Amino acid sequence: MQNKSTLLNIVLAIVIVVLVIQITQRGGGDSYHQPSDSFSQDTPATELQNTTVNTSRSVNLKKSVGVKGYIMPKPALVIGSYSKDGKPDIMTAAWTGIASSDPLSIAVSIRESRQTYENILATGCFTVNVPSEKFVVETDYVGNISGRDEDKFQKLGLTPVKGDYVNAPYIGEFPVVIECQVTDTIHLGSHVQFIGKVIDTKVDADLLYDNDEVNVEKLKPLILGEGFYYGYGKRLAKPFDIYKTLVEGKEPSYKPDLLANETLATIFSRKSVRHYTSEKVSNDQLTLMVKAGMAAPTAVDKRPWAFVAINNRAVLDQLAESLPYAKMLKQATAAIVVCGDLSKTAEGYRKAYWIQDCSAATENILLATESIGLGAVWTGVHPDQEKEIEVQKILNLPDDKIPLNVIAIGYPTGEDQPKDKWDENNLHWNQW
Ligand SMILES: Cc1cc2nc3c(=O)[nH]c(=O)nc-3n(C[C@H](O)[C@H](O)[C@H](O)COP(=O)(O)O)c2cc1C
Repeated sequence: MQNKSTLLNIVLAIVIVVLVIQITQRGGGDSYHQPSDSFSQDTPATELQNTTVNTSRSVNLKKSVGVKGYIMPKPALVIGSYSKDGKPDIMTAAWTGIASSDPLSIAVSIRESRQTYENILATGCFTVNVPSEKFVVETDYVGNISGRDEDKFQKLGLTPVKGDYVNAPYIGEFPVVIECQVTDTIHLGSHVQFIGKVIDTKVDADLLYDNDEVNVEKLKPLILGEGFYYGYGKRLAKPFDIYKTLVEGKEPSYKPDLLANETLATIFSRKSVRHYTSEKVSNDQLTLMVKAGMAAPTAVDKRPWAFVAINNRAVLDQLAESLPYAKMLKQATAAIVVCGDLSKTAEGYRKAYWIQDCSAATENILLATESIGLGAVWTGVHPDQEKEIEVQKILNLPDDKIPLNVIAIGYPTGEDQPKDKWDENNLHWNQW
């Protein structure tokens, strides 16, 4: 009996030893699957072994919050479809994503209660429309109102364009549109997931690089975080590239400036913008610009300034006609006139400080416009007395309000670019 159990123990020990040897030879047994398609990398394992990640990390205390879909960000897309009697409809969908590379397919999960669900069942097609930030209101609207109750295209002044390849409408005004043909329908529970094979993708031509890749900074796609819509943040790094920072002998092709300063970026990208689209600048934006102006430094805290915000076409045109160097006001959809208020200036020689104060306010306005994607140009008025009188007349300004300049504002067409004005000769250290 004892002999039998000793034998069993020996056999068991041998089995364990063999297993341990096998596992060790396989490198720990954990199979991390390197991607096998174009995403896979060409780094030999020996190279990887030579470097260690030199960062201090800590495992943070976690709290379980139950079943949540905390994947951030989510896309905020608009799905286009025709009803069985040909009525175009659009709805917002966040439960979406690329589902396969070949064939390129997009998954969209839609509740059966939506008009869009009925439409896709009837036609077997849909379009995916990618909104840019400026369509945030429209995107939210079509996610709250059903096509059963309203023609959302008509209400929002958007154009339904029949797909070139599928029986579904796309939104003419949206920058990226993708035509899809349903290949699979999966009933998941609350939602039905339609898998749409991508038949064609169209992008606003001015948003494409020469190689047909999308300029994301220019497109400014809208995304969904938890509870809020967001825009894209700043560019951080290039995928399949930045990991090279941790691989000996490799350099990433795009080196992120992780300490990039947004204020400096705005200062260096500011340019005089003289070409604008027809898109309107809102009153809120103009108020914000003037607030930025009033945040400028001012001598003896006198704040000797007054601002006239203009969004009336007739007034903009009148100014354009009277000021030879402000012809761009014909195209601009707004303007701000920065005036010195002589009733508020300091006394004596300090009186003239209104010009510095208003100039600082003007630069603040120019930088603020640049920072929110608007374009502006400073056109001078003071000290040309003839021009001052013209502007005073057009704007009905009291005599002691002296227009320093007219800042034309609008959405830039992209034609105007910043200039590099850095000239080392103009910098003197300590003495001339
Ligand atoms: C940000 C956001 C995301 C949404 N995501 C989805 C989604 O993924 N699936 C869905 O069925 N409904 C989603 N909705 C709700 C529909 O868009 C909404 O019910 C819409 O009014 C349906 O329109 P329809 O009846 O014309 O199809 C979302 C709404 C919003 C505002």
